[in-house]
Amino acid sequence: MPKLKAIILVGGPGMRLRPLTEDRPKSVVPVLNLPAIEHTFAYLKQYGVEDIILALNYLPDVIKSYFGDGSRCGVHLTYCLEKEPMGTAGAVKNAAAYLDGSFFVMNGDIFTDLNLTEMLSFHREKKAMATIALTWVDNPSAFGVVETDSNRKVKRFIEKPPLAEATTHWINAGTYILESEMLKYIPPNQHYMFEKGLFPALLEAGEPVYGYPYRGFWLDMGNPGAYYSINIDLMMSKVKSPLIAPFTSDEKGIRCGADVKIHPSAVITPPVLMDRGCFIGKGVHLTGPVVIGRDCRLEDGAVVENAILWDNVIIGADSRLANCIVSSRAVIKAKQEVVNCIVTPANTVPLLR
Ligand code: GDD
Ligand code: MG
Repeated sequence: MPKLKAIILVGGPGMRLRPLTEDRPKSVVPVLNLPAIEHTFAYLKQYGVEDIILALNYLPDVIKSYFGDGSRCGVHLTYCLEKEPMGTAGAVKNAAAYLDGSFFVMNGDIFTDLNLTEMLSFHREKKAMATIALTWVDNPSAFGVVETDSNRKVKRFIEKPPLAEATTHWINAGTYILESEMLKYIPPNQHYMFEKGLFPALLEAGEPVYGYPYRGFWLDMGNPGAYYSINIDLMMSKVKSPLIAPFTSDEKGIRCGADVKIHPSAVITPPVLMDRGCFIGKGVHLTGPVVIGRDCRLEDGAVVENAILWDNVIIGADSRLANCIVSSRAVIKAKQEVVNCIVTPANTVPLLR
């Protein structure tokens, strides 16, 4: 495949993922202890896409200071800052100086195993100006519904219609291949969306816009339930990330970072992933899938099941935590029972799935 560039729309906190994104854009919430878009970089690299533009507007320094020029991840990163959110298409226009020929666009909150080589062949074969990857979902009303004809040409694009008005379950999967000529359809220096502005405008102008349907794994992790399930799905190997090596036979489904201290009486049922510096006390029960970030402390007698813990979390003695997401520096008090919740240092709210 020729080496194309990709632009990732990193955007803001994602209102629906709050309260997990108070201190970071949603694209860098940890997924199996690594920022979500680091998985996207590895995914793109599999297809030879190493030149990546990040379109940012919210807490850009969190991302810049972590990734720098991208070399640690084997990619080359260019940062394109928006003073104010420019919208999905406005963000691409803002990066126009770096774009030329065909390029990929990805929403920054997508996990997928879409084959980009096959999508590019389709795009070329159709001589498309824009190709939109399409995935099938049960409830299309939360997404951009895309109607195509028998030749896969897009007939209509309806962003988040009421369920009764959704004419198909094939939706915009948040990955596009675009030709740089289409940039002329995006008005400069103003907020403009692909979904409500550009795609309808391209159709109106009679430009060749195609839908590329695929049946692989796809998830938008933009709400807590989906964020929880992407972690669980990766732990259960329902989907794979090129960043996470499968468990070896020696690991037996339990992988620990450096300087982890586990009391010999702890009972650990896989799969469990634990980052460095953790302490697991006497009689702790861990029942996977469980993901534990750096420097967490699970005190004596704590029980943790099906949970995602970020960094520096403390789980008090004899407490029980099940089906939860716990963000960095949150504390579960001794003897507390917390089930189906998002716990942050500031509050505890139900985890709706
Ligand atoms: N740089 C930048 N600037 N990024 C933005 C902006 C902006 O102004 N607005 C949104 N984004 C980023 C978000 O951070 C996210 O990564 C991506 O663009 C999509 O925005 P979401 O807010 O997650 O949209 P959505 O999930 O409701 O809907 C979109 O994605 C669906 C697929 O997941 C639409 O494209 C739908 O049509 C699509 O089906
Ligand atoms: Mg989204």
